[in-house]
Amino acid sequence: MAFLDRLHKGGNAVLNVARVATFPWLGMAPSAPLMVYVELTRRCNLQCRHCDIWKTGEKVEDIRNRELSSKALLELFSGLAQRGLVAVDLFGGEPLMRPDLPEIISGLKKIGLHVTVTSNGLLLNAKRSQALVEAGLDQLFISIDAPEAKLHDDLRGVPGTFERVLAGVREFQRHNPGTVKVGINSLVCRPTYPHISRMPAFAESLGASQVRLLPYHQCYPFNSWQQDDDLLPRREDLDEMKGCLDSFQVEARLRHLSTNGQSYIEGIPAWFSGELKGHRCVAGLAVCDINGFGELFPCYTSGGAVGSLHESSFDALWSSSAMEAFRRSHEQCSGCWQSCYIEPGLRLDPRSALTDFRTVLHDLREYFVGR
Ligand SMILES: C[S@@+](CC[C@H](N)C(=O)[O-])C[C@H]1O[C@@H](n2cnc3c(N)ncnc32)[C@H](O)[C@@H]1O
Ligand code: SF4
Ligand code: SF4
Repeated sequence: MAFLDRLHKGGNAVLNVARVATFPWLGMAPSAPLMVYVELTRRCNLQCRHCDIWKTGEKVEDIRNRELSSKALLELFSGLAQRGLVAVDLFGGEPLMRPDLPEIISGLKKIGLHVTVTSNGLLLNAKRSQALVEAGLDQLFISIDAPEAKLHDDLRGVPGTFERVLAGVREFQRHNPGTVKVGINSLVCRPTYPHISRMPAFAESLGASQVRLLPYHQCYPFNSWQQDDDLLPRREDLDEMKGCLDSFQVEARLRHLSTNGQSYIEGIPAWFSGELKGHRCVAGLAVCDINGFGELFPCYTSGGAVGSLHESSFDALWSSSAMEAFRRSHEQCSGCWQSCYIEPGLRLDPRSALTDFRTVLHDLREYFVGR
């Protein structure tokens, strides 16, 4: 029975991939996304310069009351998994601030999904680390923006954060029998780009198998846009940045660490120069976002929610005219270069898929074979 169930879900996932790939010509949306990013909460214990989520005027209790419950989330994902959903990333705010995080992970694992958590790592003590491992988590991404305390703490807004994150990762690794892959997420911005080539060695020293770059974006719905932003690389920085990105890739390869695909990394300077060309985007088709208030977004960077999961079913929103209009109007888009949306699209592009052959194989193994 378990085998037939896997076959059924796998068949639907393959059908969904085919529908995403052929959407510009056949116009048939998949019956479910392949990957959903879930902002489990908007509460956070840091005050990052690059993220304004903590600047809310709302009371913590009011934020908490608008979160989707673990029961609602598991019901939703149980249905989507049947229709070919493959993976869920749990982020925030800070996802470790939800005490029911292990319960959510183990529920998602029972459904047969690939589960990742993206965290600032501050709350990783022995008890939480053990609970994440026992819940069956597949991969833990920890955000460390620079290989040194001063830079990381300056970006994260709270002194001592770097030392606390390192202690958290080491604690986690002490409880990790090797079943949970650890990845490091690093923000690429003006203060950090000169240091990115040191990140692979640093990630390796923490026992990570992956190191990913996240270029700075101002366009999250809760971020304020500033003309004179110290974090934005300037045009005159970009040649030097290209060299740093090349060295980053060499260093990661030397250590057998998986990273973003080459086509993606090569697009980062174009994003910062404002010269990014319109590219095929699979937001609202292969991937989508649920925010900490239970609202569904085709993408989290351009435009608004298509509706609330507190009021409507996922299916109703997924097949709504607002979602359909988004898919049509964003088939080609240059609105962002965010890894979570752009890289799945690059995997389906024959030219990038050839350039990124090793990354494609890694992702297939990670999301399909590992299930
Ligand atoms: C929104 S955070 C949520 C999870 C957790 N609080 C953390 O910091 O890892 C997820 C990832 O997005 C990154 N991020 C936040 N603001 C960003 C921005 N303006 N541009 C690019 N990446 C950003 C963070 O550095 C982190 O790696
Ligand atoms: S990036 Fe993460 S840790 Fe920093 S404020 Fe945003 S949600 Fe919090
Ligand atoms: S490229 Fe456009 S549609 Fe795609 S995620 Fe970015 S802003 Fe959204």
